[in-house]
Amino acid sequence: MAFSAPPDADDMTEAQMGRKLFFDKRFSLNNTISCADCHIPTFAFSDTTALSKGFEGKTTTRNAPPLTNLSGRPYFFWDGRSPSLEDQVLHPIQHPVEMGLNLKELNKRLRADKLYVKWFKKHYGKLPDASLAARAIAAFERTLETGNAPIDRFMDGDSGAISLSAMRGREIFTEKGKCFECHFTPDFTADEFKNIGLFNAKNLNDSGRFSITKKQDDLGKFRVPGLRNVTLTAPYMHNGMFKSLEEVIDYYNDPSVVVPDAINRDTLLNGRLNLTTQEKADLLAFLQTLTSASASRK
Ligand code: HEC
Ligand code: HEC
Repeated sequence: MAFSAPPDADDMTEAQMGRKLFFDKRFSLNNTISCADCHIPTFAFSDTTALSKGFEGKTTTRNAPPLTNLSGRPYFFWDGRSPSLEDQVLHPIQHPVEMGLNLKELNKRLRADKLYVKWFKKHYGKLPDASLAARAIAAFERTLETGNAPIDRFMDGDSGAISLSAMRGREIFTEKGKCFECHFTPDFTADEFKNIGLFNAKNLNDSGRFSITKKQDDLGKFRVPGLRNVTLTAPYMHNGMFKSLEEVIDYYNDPSVVVPDAINRDTLLNGRLNLTTQEKADLLAFLQTLTSASASRK
């Protein structure tokens, strides 16, 4: 009988090592949480609560986004403050609410693990440290690309891959709903910062991109999220304020009903869309075609 390789084999690929580190709770000060506790694999690596809980049970100020289809993104976080996946990894580890660990202590912990020492020496020619760990985790994240969703099969010519309702929804997405102006293919994001009206400097006081650039024009702008696997990534928006896609669609239908005093809202969202009940259902059916079967696997 042939033996399959044990999971701890030191011949793991870089992405396999990255996956192992992603699940390692020693990345948090009190060894209680790993990256995977806020980025849950079965939900396209997003969290199911509006705001996640960190290593001491305190809540984060933003919603944990999915980690699928990030390899083509030019920057990370809702406000775009990180320029690469390698850089991004170091933020949550040191974040006082998220994992609370300093990088020196992380280096110590990694070097106390015989398997890590062996693997890092073999693959990188060095002892493990935070930036090499970040490199492996980034390699893992780059494998989380999801394709072959119903919409991809439809675009490839399989006209039966999506329902008639979803086909009508696709037209609403591109025409009447204006969604496509900001969410375009291949990953349904323009990779730009936009303000859809969820900032009023009162109860909605996250100024988004402005907090990084200090430019008035950036007030309330957030990175346009990609919409692949969106059925798996509720709740929605930078603060997780919408529980369902129905709520999101109702919002876009008439933003000023939900946030009457929005500051700096994009002019594309001025006025009502006047979607009928059927059109809302069609738009929802379209959004449901963007989810890949592979996005909910472990
Ligand atoms: C306590 C919960 C928590 C933990 C633990 C955590 N994250 Fe996150 N993650 C978040 C939140 C919240 C955001 C959004 C923060 C923001 O935009 O300001 C985020 C954002 C990200 C992003 C940016 C995604 C994008 O679309 O821009 C990546 C990548 C990421 N995390 C990877 C990781 C990795 C790798 C780890 C482990 C080293 C980790 N996270 C640990 C909550 C968490
Ligand atoms: C002006 C650009 C723009 C337009 C037009 C637009 N969006 Fe968005 N969308 C965004 C931005 C920016 C966010 C994140 C906003 C935030 O968190 O404050 C977002 C968030 C979302 C989310 C939440 C995704 C997540 O992971 O949390 C969904 C779903 C969504 N949009 C669908 C749509 C649909 C459907 C339409 C058309 C009816 C549409 N969008 C029109 C820019 C836009």
